[in-house]
Amino acid sequence: MQIYIGTPPPGELQGVCLKQRADVTVTDLEELQDLLNVNIEKNKHLVTGSVQAKVLKWGEDVKEFLPAPDYILMADCIYYEESLEPLLKTLKDLSGPDTCIICCYEQRTMGKNPEIERKYFELLQMDFESEKVPLEKHDEEYRSEDIHILNIRRKKNSRNFPL
Ligand SMILES: C[S@@+](CC[C@H](N)C(=O)[O-])C[C@H]1O[C@@H](n2cnc3c(N)ncnc32)[C@H](O)[C@@H]1O
Repeated sequence: MQIYIGTPPPGELQGVCLKQRADVTVTDLEELQDLLNVNIEKNKHLVTGSVQAKVLKWGEDVKEFLPAPDYILMADCIYYEESLEPLLKTLKDLSGPDTCIICCYEQRTMGKNPEIERKYFELLQMDFESEKVPLEKHDEEYRSEDIHILNIRRKKNSRNFPL
């Protein structure tokens, strides 16, 4: 099973559904559900596994999404301060010891963005280990110096593992 946090752009959706024959749940806020369903509809001819859209507001109960998925993919979800703690709570509640979290983000340099990024990593390292995917391993067409991809896993001694 794979889960997205944040509306996936159609290209991401295709990649995951096609290559992995995965059961995918794409998640976002209530008001984004129509857009998620448009994306699913536009790509359904490419889907070899299953895909569904669901509401998941970061920080809220994740019981209906358990057991922990194999992968959590998050693209461009680190961008406003109030969301950092709820977002990390969701990652913690949703992930198990074998869950691979792939986090892609754009490094923004304007205004509060560097501080938001710094705080995200400060909170992240409390329960997770992360490793940067080197730029030369990114897709040749889409790679860019300001786009980063991280592989994230729960630390072995991290608590609150969902039962
Ligand atoms: C910058 S967009 C990125 C969208 C997409 N993943 C992409 O890369 O184009 C961030 C997404 O996070 C969602 N989001 C923001 N706050 C959220 C929250 N508290 N709970 C759930 N989703 C949230 C937004 O609705 C939006 O779809």
